Amino acid sequence: MAKVSPPPECLFKPMNFPQKVLMGPGPSNCPPRVLAASALPMLGPTHPEFTLIMDEVKAGIKYIFQTNNEWTVCVTGSGHAAMETACLNLLEPGDTALVGINGLWGERFAEMVHRQGIDVKTLHRPTGEVFTFEEIEEALKKHKPTLLSLTHGESTGGTLQPLEGIGSLCHKYNCLLLVDSIASCGGVPLFMDLWGIDCLYTGAQKVLSAPSGASPISFSKRAKEKVKKRLTEVRSLYFDMNHLANYWGCDGEARRYHHTGPTSCIYAIRESLAVLAEQGLEESWKKHKHCAELLYEGLEKIGLELLVKDKSIRNPCVTVVKVPDGVDWKSVIEYTRKTYRVEIGSGLGVLVGKVWRIGLMGYNCTPDNVRLVLRVLEEALRVTRTARL
Ligand SMILES: Cc1ncc(COP(=O)(O)O)c(C=O)c1O
Repeated sequence: MAKVSPPPECLFKPMNFPQKVLMGPGPSNCPPRVLAASALPMLGPTHPEFTLIMDEVKAGIKYIFQTNNEWTVCVTGSGHAAMETACLNLLEPGDTALVGINGLWGERFAEMVHRQGIDVKTLHRPTGEVFTFEEIEEALKKHKPTLLSLTHGESTGGTLQPLEGIGSLCHKYNCLLLVDSIASCGGVPLFMDLWGIDCLYTGAQKVLSAPSGASPISFSKRAKEKVKKRLTEVRSLYFDMNHLANYWGCDGEARRYHHTGPTSCIYAIRESLAVLAEQGLEESWKKHKHCAELLYEGLEKIGLELLVKDKSIRNPCVTVVKVPDGVDWKSVIEYTRKTYRVEIGSGLGVLVGKVWRIGLMGYNCTPDNVRLVLRVLEEALRVTRTARL
C-alpha cells in the first residue's frame, strides 16, 4: 500500500476565535440567536422540515425586498453567487448589458458579463458619486441594452443610488433593471415591486447579520419571462434559476433535489430574517439613519471628512471617511484592531490608502457601537500621529 502522508500539525491545535467588533463594510457580528441557529442538527435538502424552513426564508426575503415575486430564493454562496446568478440567467449571447460603475461592484459585474462573452457597455461616475436620471436615460437610448445593472449601496464609495423612477424608465426602453443591494437592503427603504426592479439580490452577512453562504435573490415576472424565453441554455447548471425555482418550491411542481443547500446557513438566515421581521423594516431603517447621523456628527467633531458630501446620497450602512494628510491609514486600523479588537475597513479599488470604511449594519448598528468606533478612532489618530513625530 502507498505511504500515507501525515495529518497536518495545525489540526491538532484548537481554532483561534478572537471576539472582534466588526465595524467594517461586512461581515457584521451575528446575534447569539443567529449563531445558535447555525449550530442546529442537520436535515436533508428535501426533508419536509427543511423545505418548510426554506419557505419561511422565502417569505422573509419577500418581506425585506417588499415583493410578491414567485421567483424568490436563496442561492448557495456569498453575494458573488447572487451576482453570477443574475448575470448567467438574465443574459445570453446577442444581449447587451449596461453596467453603472461608481465603485468596485459595478466593475465586478461588468467583468462577469464580459467573461460570459456578452456585450457590455459601461456608464461611469467617480466613486462617491451616483448616476442621474438624465444620464441613465441618455445611455439607455444610446446602447439599447437588455439589462441595466446598478449598485444600490456602493460599499466602495459609501453612496446610495436613488432608484425611484429608474424601473419605469428602463421598461420604457424595453430594458430590465438589476439592482445589487448587498450593502444596503434592510438598512434603507427599498421597494422592489413599487420601484419596478426586475432582479434584486442581497447578502446574508451585512444588515441581516448572518453568516455568509446563502444569498437572497428575486426575479420579477418580466425577468422570469426573459429567462423562460432564452434561446440558449443557462451556462451554469448550479445557478440555473429554472432548477433553483423548483428546488425552492416556486413553480408549483414537486420539489426535486438540485443540490445540498447550505443547511446551517439557511437556519441562520431564517433566524436573522425573523429578527428583522420582529423589529420591523421601518424601525430598522430609522435605526440605521439615526446611528449614521450620530456617526457623521462624531466624525466631523474629531476633524474627519466624509467622502460623500451630499447627505441625501450617503448609504447609512457604510460610511467612507477620508484619511487626513500626514496620517498613516494602516497604523490607525492596526491600532484599533490590536488595542480594542475593533475592525475598521480600509479603502477598496481606487480608494485604497485614501479612506477608511465604517459599517453600521444590523446587529452592529447601535449608538454604543458608534461611540465605541469614534472613541477608538480618535485615540488611534492621536497615538499614531504622536508616534510619527
Ligand atoms: C455592494 C456589494 N456587492 C457585492 C458584494 C460581494 O459580496 P460577497 O463578498 O458576499 O461575495 C459586496 C461585498 O462587500 C458588496 O458590498
